[in-house]
Amino acid sequence: MMADKYAEPLNEVDRYAVVGNPIAHSKSPLIHMEFARQTHQNISYERILAPLDGFEATVLELIKQGYKGVNVTVPFKFKAYDLCTTHSPQVQLAGAVNTMIFADFGIVGHNTDGDGLIEDITQNLKTPIRDKRVLLLGAGGAAEGVFQPLLVEHPKLLVVANRTLQKAEKIVSKSSDKAWQGKASTFEDLNNQQFDIVINATSTGLSDTALPIPDSVFAENCLAYDMMYGRETPFMQQARANGARVADGLGMLVEQAAEAFYLWRGVHPETQPVIDMIRAL
Ligand code: ATR
Repeated sequence: MMADKYAEPLNEVDRYAVVGNPIAHSKSPLIHMEFARQTHQNISYERILAPLDGFEATVLELIKQGYKGVNVTVPFKFKAYDLCTTHSPQVQLAGAVNTMIFADFGIVGHNTDGDGLIEDITQNLKTPIRDKRVLLLGAGGAAEGVFQPLLVEHPKLLVVANRTLQKAEKIVSKSSDKAWQGKASTFEDLNNQQFDIVINATSTGLSDTALPIPDSVFAENCLAYDMMYGRETPFMQQARANGARVADGLGMLVEQAAEAFYLWRGVHPETQPVIDMIRAL
């Protein structure tokens, strides 16, 4: 276990961390310490690199050391689910955990990614999801975590399109609402369809790969949202070229952190100043 200390913990400080691999570039310590400063919470927050085969041992060691909770990032969100003894309802459907609370009675698992995305789209970007045609691109862990929360917003249509159709079908079939389950699709089948909100939850931005989606998916006044942040992806370029409003995932990152902070500390931090601060770095 390697810890890179953001703040030197004092005796009475409640300790938190983000666990992942890689972890060096995580902005979570910056975000949480800013929330703590804002809300006068006495906490520390570190980055912890867990070995790829050592997530469980790392978490158990943190519990032994008296940590109060952790955020979990790539690639451990599914392992985190297995380790939790209690799961929030959202987590039960997604099967992935991004926030753990170390309680006296066990480890409680939450997933704040979905709420973070919804908050960013509906509040920060002022785009209601209700009755909109929504396209979710990708069917990996990132897409899985946001599918149910999107459905709960009652879009007019929720299509999950993925290179591997079976994975999209699996996500859609897990819907808690049997009356309205969304629809799985290949990229090719998106021809002649238009959407008001298009969300890229694939990992293609990391490799600068374009998605084979038709330009026509971006309806007039479309919001194109890439869950990645920190770079202009080919998806964002395509959306921009087709007249869409474009957003990256920085707002989602800060909003999911705010939800985790609330679960741990019981106070809601203000997110917009923190989004602005990180954007300006
Ligand atoms: P994450 O946890 O970030 O979601 P993941 O579970 O590996 O990562 O999922 C990656 C997603 O990006 C998947 O939807 C994947 O498509 P497949 O399910 O068909 O593998 C998608 N993806 C990755 N590279 C892609 C590419 N070159 N073209 C299209 N989709 C791609």
